[in-house]
Amino acid sequence: MSTENHSTSRASWSGQLAFVLAAAASAIGLGNLWRFPYLAAQYGGGAFIAIYLILVVTLGFTLMTTEIAIGRKTRQSQLTAYSRLHKGWGFIGLLGTIIPLLIVPYYCVIGGWVLKYFVVYLKMALTGVNLMGENAVDSAGFFSSFISAPFAPFAFGLVFIIACAAIIVLGVKNGIERSNLVMMPILFFMAIAISIYVICLPGSGAGLKYYLVPNLSSLSVDGAFSIQLLGKTILGAMGQMFYSLSLAMGIMITYGSYMRKEDSIEKSVRRIEIFDTLIAIIAGLMIIPVVYMFAVKTGMDVKEAMNAGPGLMFITLPKVFATLGVAGPWVGLAFFTLVTFAAATSAISLYEACVAAVCDLLKIERRSATFFMGATICFLSTFSALGYGPWSNVTLSSAFHAMGINGEWTNGAFFKLQGLDFFDFITNSVFMPIVAVITCVFIGWIKGPNTVIDEVSADGHQFKARGFYSFMVKYIAPLLILAVLVSEVCRAFKIGGWSI
Ligand code: PHE
Repeated sequence: MSTENHSTSRASWSGQLAFVLAAAASAIGLGNLWRFPYLAAQYGGGAFIAIYLILVVTLGFTLMTTEIAIGRKTRQSQLTAYSRLHKGWGFIGLLGTIIPLLIVPYYCVIGGWVLKYFVVYLKMALTGVNLMGENAVDSAGFFSSFISAPFAPFAFGLVFIIACAAIIVLGVKNGIERSNLVMMPILFFMAIAISIYVICLPGSGAGLKYYLVPNLSSLSVDGAFSIQLLGKTILGAMGQMFYSLSLAMGIMITYGSYMRKEDSIEKSVRRIEIFDTLIAIIAGLMIIPVVYMFAVKTGMDVKEAMNAGPGLMFITLPKVFATLGVAGPWVGLAFFTLVTFAAATSAISLYEACVAAVCDLLKIERRSATFFMGATICFLSTFSALGYGPWSNVTLSSAFHAMGINGEWTNGAFFKLQGLDFFDFITNSVFMPIVAVITCVFIGWIKGPNTVIDEVSADGHQFKARGFYSFMVKYIAPLLILAVLVSEVCRAFKIGGWSI
């Protein structure tokens, strides 16, 4: 088992379903749960969902097919895959490997927060004692005192990292594949059960309508259709799709490198997309109607109540759960169980991308690579774990000031991002689009789309969408991704009034 990553006997999934489940497990994560519902609520419900779906089956399909094919063809993780394909292009792999290495530490810190809430809800459900305060009114205080504590966020993050390491060290089949067989069905079951519960709550209809019915007024200003709003909606959907499908992080290359030739890449990609999108839509069903009812009850504006990220998950939802009476702690427990699994399976895929890179490069054993990467992740995670507490002043700006560089530019918003937000920005908004664009240019223009088409058609499979694929990878995909990159950078530096 520990030799699984030696190039002579590369590990493999036991079949197509195992591969689809693993890739879907990576794709389904915090992005589906805390970002998709928020974006849908902000950008006109069904209208946003429709745009998102179109992007998934076109751009998402193209990028995911490309990555999986590169992985399976070279039987390498991304660090070494590109140079195997073409001498001189190994730099994309190097650039790409930095992405999971920077994301996994902060993803594990958030995993630690989720774990903490799982433990809190478990205690509340079992003992009936309210640990979040009366009606969770001060859930914001509870959350901020936890994340700014000197030790607790680091400790929960550490437990989360060790749990992921314990699975990774067991290997592709015995570790990742087996753990998915436990975690993914539970995740699906919990998601479906909670959404049915929410749909059956009296008064959920208005929230459901708000979520699912396309609201074209969100694309208009003063009653007139706005091209700029449509552009923002498309860019928002595109950024979400990237993150949600775990693209441009080397994960699909690594997971593809364990795929058997006899399994169909095209069919697998379609299934992964269906799973990931289904969970995103179900997340909206779990979250939007209850937040809507909560907003109406407390007289808040729905758009304001419907925030994204940690604010939604750790502050608003605990308040919402507290309105559900005796069922509240149990719904909370079910919810944080599913979030813990969603975060863990995504973190495992990021961690595995790093481990596989080290194994392929240095030809060392999986066990040593897991340990080495685990130590690196722990070290890097301290910046994010302590970034809200003792190290909240550690920013690029403070580093420049310490070096005696005091220009006015060092006070810009970007230079003031602390720990977690800084890593989040440079990975998702800058590195990922850059790697994705270069990959498209590399495959579309340098190697030629046939590199991927031949791999997808290997072992007698038919690549039905080959013509469409070629066109997308050469022309449309690079342009669309460039648009994401430009808009993200403008947003960060507050150029041109962008704010998604
Ligand atoms: N795709 C995951 C999600 O939707 C996030 C993720 C990011 C997973 C990076 C792996 C790597 O949350």
